[in-house]
Amino acid sequence: MLNVRAIHQYYGGSHTLRGVSLTLKQGECLALLGRNGVGKTTLLKCLMGVLPVREGSISLDGHDITKLAPHQRAARGIAYVPQGRDIFARLTVEENIRMGMASKPASAARRIKGEVFELFPVLASMLSRRGGDLSGGQQQQLAIARALVAEPRLIILDEPTEGIQPSIIKDIAKVIRLLRERGDIGILLCEQYFDFARELADQFIVMSRGEIVAAGDRTQIDGPDVRKHLLA
Ligand SMILES: Nc1ncnc2c1ncn2[C@@H]1O[C@H](COP(=O)(O)OP(=O)(O)O)[C@@H](O)[C@H]1O
Ligand SMILES: [Mg+2]
Repeated sequence: MLNVRAIHQYYGGSHTLRGVSLTLKQGECLALLGRNGVGKTTLLKCLMGVLPVREGSISLDGHDITKLAPHQRAARGIAYVPQGRDIFARLTVEENIRMGMASKPASAARRIKGEVFELFPVLASMLSRRGGDLSGGQQQQLAIARALVAEPRLIILDEPTEGIQPSIIKDIAKVIRLLRERGDIGILLCEQYFDFARELADQFIVMSRGEIVAAGDRTQIDGPDVRKHLLA
């Protein structure tokens, strides 16, 4: 479903992505691993169209989306949960969810909301709370829920466990596992929490200094060539 071919990106004179390629299949979870500062977030921003790419191509379901704006990529089914979960702090939980559903017909809204609250029951009990008043873990759940109500074909998650308490990490893992089992959506999971990624990934890639330096399927994720790129 997602095909990325040799993309390059620069911040000024600094060559941040150096020919990154990847493939993600429908129904699979691809883990993007790598230390701090290697270019993971930059890659995800390029996939969402928040940053332009200098060279290379990105295609979704066989259509070239390299030049599309973020809202056009969203309309084609890409949802993005940025690092540091950027929910609307002054809006309520309900309003945040509604923002994610803006493009959905009213007739579908009730069904979609019901499905997402089944995944995140805690949110259903906090509909009128303001986003900014939730705990960090609840905000992360809200950010994921807001992405899911758009019913994406591909969800991109940038370090969803960062700074989150263990009990909520478990809940988030459960949701990702359910999405995977459903089989109709691609999941690109950027993580530094290795055990979390290992538990969920079908495939993985490892980045170092703007390049993919290792890749494989879940049986290979424990290999020494992976570890050496992840240890500080
Ligand atoms: N807006 C920016 N302007 C200039 N340099 C940036 C910017 N954002 C990130 N960088 C640099 O690009 C590199 C990759 O950053 P990033 O993609 O955030 O890495 P990661 O997500 O793997 O931690 C780092 O060296 C970082 O300092
Ligand atoms: Mg990052």
